[in-house]
Amino acid sequence: MTGTPMRLLCRAKVNLTLEVIGKRPDGYHELVSLAHTISLADRLTIRASDQLSCEVRGMELAENENLVLRAARCLRESARLSAGAAITLEKGVPAAAGLGGGSSDAAAALVALRCFWGARLPVEEMSTLASELGSDVPYFLRGGAAVLRGRGERLEAAPPQQGRLVVVVPDHHMVGKTGALYATLRPSDLSDGTETERVVTRLRRGAALADGDLCNAFERPARELFDDLDHVWRDAERRTGRRFHLSGAGPAIFALAADRDDAEQLRERLLAPQLRVYVTELVNSSRSADQG
Ligand code: C5P
Repeated sequence: MTGTPMRLLCRAKVNLTLEVIGKRPDGYHELVSLAHTISLADRLTIRASDQLSCEVRGMELAENENLVLRAARCLRESARLSAGAAITLEKGVPAAAGLGGGSSDAAAALVALRCFWGARLPVEEMSTLASELGSDVPYFLRGGAAVLRGRGERLEAAPPQQGRLVVVVPDHHMVGKTGALYATLRPSDLSDGTETERVVTRLRRGAALADGDLCNAFERPARELFDDLDHVWRDAERRTGRRFHLSGAGPAIFALAADRDDAEQLRERLLAPQLRVYVTELVNSSRSADQG
C-alpha cells in the first residue's frame, strides 16, 4: 500500500503538583494535579496497511500492555471500522516512570488514527475512549499546562510555563506500580487540593514557578517502595544542591533549572551508571508533527 506516512512526536509530562484527596467508592482515587507537558517524546509513525499492527522499538512491550494497539482497537470498534494501519512506536520516554509516556502514545494514536481512518467520532466520545484506556490519557488529548481532577479526566487549562528541567530516572521493576502506590497511601499523605489551587492562582498572576510550589502525595510511599529511589534522590540533591520532585507515582524525579546552561551543568553532575538523566523543556502541547 502507498500513501504518506503520518509521523508524530508524543510528549511526556511531569506533575508539578499531585494531591490525592481520598478513595472513591469505585476503587479509584480522587486527585487534583497540575500537570505540564515536557519535550521528552516518543515517535509514532502510521502507514497504510490492511492489517492492524504495532512494532515497538527501544523497549520490550507485551502486546496486551501496548496502549497504542488498545487505543487503535477501541477506536476501530467505536467508529465501526475494519481499517488497518502499520504503526511503529519508537520509545524515547522511559516506561512506567511517572512521565506518562504510554498514555501520551495512546492519546496520540486515538487522535492520529481518527484522522488517518477518517473516523466520524464526536470529540466527547474521544474523551470517553481516552479515559477507558487510562486515567492520564484524557489529559494527553491536548496536554500543556492543566489541572486534572476526578480520576484525572476532568481538565481545566492552567497558565503554560517555560523553562528547562533535568529529569532523573532510576531503574525499577515493579509490576502494577501505580495501583501499588495508590494502595499504600496513608491518611497523612492525603490533602484537599488547596495547594494546587494556590499554585495555579500564583501562576495566573504571572509569578514564576518555584520549588516551594511543587508537591506530590506519592513522595513517602515512592521513597519506601522503590528500592533505590531514596538513595538516588538524596544523592541527586547532594550533587547539585537543588531540590528534586517526584513526577506521577515515580520513580522519575526532576529539578527546575535556571536555563539551558544550568540544566546541562546539572546533567553532568548527575550522570552515573544505572541512571537515565535527561535535559528537557516545558512545552504547551502533547503532540506535534515529527519533522525528522
Ligand atoms: O487508570 P490507570 O490504568 O492509570 O490506573 C492504574 C491503577 O492506579 C488503577 O487500577 C488504580 O488502582 C490506581 N488509580 C487510582 N486512582 C486514580 C488513578 C489510578 O486509584 N485516580
